Amino acid sequence: MDVLFVASEVAPWSKTGGLGDVAAALPRALAARGDRVTVVTPRYGSIDPVKRGLRRLDVALHGRSEAAGLYVADGPAPVYFVEHERFFGHRRGLYGENGHDYADNAARFAFFTRAALDLPAALGLAPRIVHLNDWQTGLGAWMLRHEKQDLAWARAARSVLTVHNLAYQGNFPKQAVPAVGLPWEVFRHEAMEFYDQLNFLKAGLVFADAVTTVSPTYAREILTPEHGNGLDPQLRHRARDLHGILNGIDVEEWNPETDRHLPARFGCGDLAGKAACKEALQRELGLPVRPEVPLIGMVGRLAEQKGLDLVSAALPDLLRLGPQLAVLGSGRHDYEDLFRRAARERPDQVAAHVGFDEGLAHRIEAGADLFLMPSRFEPCGLNQMYSLRYGTVPVVRAVGGLEDTVEDYDGYRRGTGFAFREYHPRALLTALRRALDLFRDRRAWTGLMERGMAQDFGWDRSAQAYERLFAELSSR
Ligand code: ADP
Ligand code: GLC
Repeated sequence: MDVLFVASEVAPWSKTGGLGDVAAALPRALAARGDRVTVVTPRYGSIDPVKRGLRRLDVALHGRSEAAGLYVADGPAPVYFVEHERFFGHRRGLYGENGHDYADNAARFAFFTRAALDLPAALGLAPRIVHLNDWQTGLGAWMLRHEKQDLAWARAARSVLTVHNLAYQGNFPKQAVPAVGLPWEVFRHEAMEFYDQLNFLKAGLVFADAVTTVSPTYAREILTPEHGNGLDPQLRHRARDLHGILNGIDVEEWNPETDRHLPARFGCGDLAGKAACKEALQRELGLPVRPEVPLIGMVGRLAEQKGLDLVSAALPDLLRLGPQLAVLGSGRHDYEDLFRRAARERPDQVAAHVGFDEGLAHRIEAGADLFLMPSRFEPCGLNQMYSLRYGTVPVVRAVGGLEDTVEDYDGYRRGTGFAFREYHPRALLTALRRALDLFRDRRAWTGLMERGMAQDFGWDRSAQAYERLFAELSSR
């Protein structure tokens, strides 16, 4: 299958969250299965083309009135970078800076999406599938039908929109409609209008040939008003074209046996290196070096989605249970302050690193005993899968992809982690207490760790599910 994969972030070039990981790993997994996948993404200011060895191409793409240059990183699934100084090259952030979105995001991502759809003709490609991701690329489903209809490849192509997170929709004041070069006829309830605003994600939900999301449970949840973020009527309308395909993880990047970020390596049946990682992590973070004290890790965007109000409410009781807590994240300032303050007041128990640090994320996954992810909602979640692979027992809220990847310990021989359902600090504490009790039983705990480490979260199965969907769409 010939696929054009369009994403606003692709690791390791750019990443704010799981989308970047998926946009790196899924195209590679498809390519390994023999599909021809072309990835296209913006060249942000943080990507230095010289230092990163990108090759400049002598073609121009057109994003309507303005043109874009092009770079490429060759590989099994080559990544093309759309070059535009004002929209991307001059920006330090991807979507905003200092907690504020860029005011021209509608123009930036409409431009990017048009340029991306210009790529096949410029390179002489004829993709059968245009795989769009999240709101940034949602307009592509409409553009493919209405702006490229004279191109033979576009007539034969089918579009897929993957929703990585329904909470981010790209809503803009209606003046954006003409400003991004759309006709007013798209500004209706059946198309892109959403409470008198222009909604990029809705454009994708309405016009894509198929819609996917990143776990089967989330695919069901978003059909309800509770999780539908106002778009559940559109999603229900398209329920037959909506598929939940669980994300995988990059098992090479996240492999405790070879991970270059770790001070020691380990694997199932050989856990000595994990103890060394814990000791080194405690030292690195300035926590007392005590192997017998359970160490809880947390890594992620400090956003409302991640259940941080639960953590905030439960924190005093949680700390009374005696564990150490290592937090890495950035986002909402009140949550950053919460963890900074806790670290100041309880330096013997809490370490907080505010910022984005790829290496430390790996060292926390490896060195912690437990990983806490009490999300309010979670489309898929990758960290709990990294944790399982690293023998770090996840304590999660049973929601979305967390429900699909972590099996609650049954008290005997089944299960890979601890899950709770009710969104309440009490429920979180009950799950943590169960976990900390079991931690003292080394044999049972090791069994739990090893069951998690033996799980297969590689991309191949998910890549096959995408392929089946692509094949079905192409035959329509
Ligand atoms: P989401 O996409 O909602 O942020 P995921 O669990 O799917 O959640 O993916 C988050 C990804 O981003 C993981 O690879 C995680 O390690 C990474 N990540 C998040 N915050 C940080 C941070 N502060 N430092 C390093 N990596 C981070
Ligand atoms: C989103 C979701 C996360 C998911 C990731 C990759 O950012 O919040 O749950 O794992 O996308 O699909």
